[in-house]
Amino acid sequence: MNNDKHSMRLSRRRALRQFAAFLAASPLARSQRELPYNPDLLPGLDEMANVFELEPLCRARISKQNYDFIACGVDNEWSLRHNRDAFDRIHLRPRMLVNTEHMDLSTTLFGARVEMPILIAPMAGHQLAHPDGEIATAKAAAAAKTILCVSSNSSYPMEKVAEATSFVKWWQLYAREDLDATRERIQRAVALGYKVVVWTVDGPYNSHRERLLRDRIRVQVPPGGGGAGTSNAPRRRRGEAEPPHPYRLDPVLVSRMDWSHLSRIKEWANVPVLVKGILTAEDAALAVKHGADGIVVSNHGGRYLDYAPATIEVLPEIAQAAGGKLPILIDSGFRRGTDILKALAMGASAVMIGRPTLWGLGAFGQPGVEKALQLLETELALAMGLSGKPTLKHIDKSLLMFDR
Ligand SMILES: Cc1cc2nc3c(=O)[nH]c(=O)nc-3n(C[C@H](O)[C@H](O)[C@H](O)COP(=O)(O)O)c2cc1C
Repeated sequence: MNNDKHSMRLSRRRALRQFAAFLAASPLARSQRELPYNPDLLPGLDEMANVFELEPLCRARISKQNYDFIACGVDNEWSLRHNRDAFDRIHLRPRMLVNTEHMDLSTTLFGARVEMPILIAPMAGHQLAHPDGEIATAKAAAAAKTILCVSSNSSYPMEKVAEATSFVKWWQLYAREDLDATRERIQRAVALGYKVVVWTVDGPYNSHRERLLRDRIRVQVPPGGGGAGTSNAPRRRRGEAEPPHPYRLDPVLVSRMDWSHLSRIKEWANVPVLVKGILTAEDAALAVKHGADGIVVSNHGGRYLDYAPATIEVLPEIAQAAGGKLPILIDSGFRRGTDILKALAMGASAVMIGRPTLWGLGAFGQPGVEKALQLLETELALAMGLSGKPTLKHIDKSLLMFDR
């Protein structure tokens, strides 16, 4: 405990030093060198105007390696950038004189009522951002009355996260080792009360995230990968590093799996199973055919196949192929209420948020995650109110127009 406090003090000091160095390097600071650096001038939680503003604070407070692990995409990071750019090609057609006095963003997902169609995407190693890791994130999601999807590679074991709150939580599956281990882990998660299994299928091979290669981070599984909750692998420094990631094919179990495995996973889980990582109409049709209970349209936040499309671009074809037969969730690059509104108008039931929740966690701990969710919820409510859409049921594709 004392050690924790001590290391928190140290890391805070280090973060402040980094922030001071950052300020000193800025042209503004250069022109005002006589001003002493004042840590009290760091912006506070209440000053955050949007989720983007959480990122530099998170960055200042965690190690470069941990920041890079969260921020990185793959190869040229084109998909990472394009996830954002694609939203700019879609505009909104607001309607006027609709009574929007009472806004209601709530919805029901697989039997669970949530206050907003905004969930936390499964992300490995929340301790990269903060020692409280998934415990804080789970509590923040519960406070916002929404769902955290806990990663297969959480920093804290799935048991500890299950205990953190009684609010409904989902669990994400990577089929990595063998089928027996996969079945055992699914059944453990379901026995702990996780209500939905999200099977991530977009990473049959570990990808080359070049920022990690440069940081000498050899693994794609961060602190306590698999739920040990203690180690903090990406904190390794240059000099004391493992050899860089070998540039070779690095397959995991899912590279030997196909759609026929979905029925087995559903049988083992005995709760709804969503397939995460769908990017085409063809695969959406196969998901329906093979009995998926839902899909998550995702390019993994630009972390697997570079030049995979932005998810918002392919959502219309996927919604059409799914034909309303299963709920569609989506993630990758969502940072604004209007981004979320666009996806809802294209037929998504809900949106999952990735990095911004870790920025909130890194910047302020649990209150920062709550802040990220609250900012997005408020922006979505405002965008809906200004478009004449008092509830999610009022939202449809007539709200959208596209750049040609
Ligand atoms: C640090 C980090 C770790 C991630 N770990 C996982 C994971 O363990 N399982 C998974 O299915 N997706 C993982 N993802 C992908 C997210 O679920 C999600 O698809 C992506 O972050 C959404 O994009 P966004 O960060 O731009 O919002 C991870 C993403 C990040 C940034």
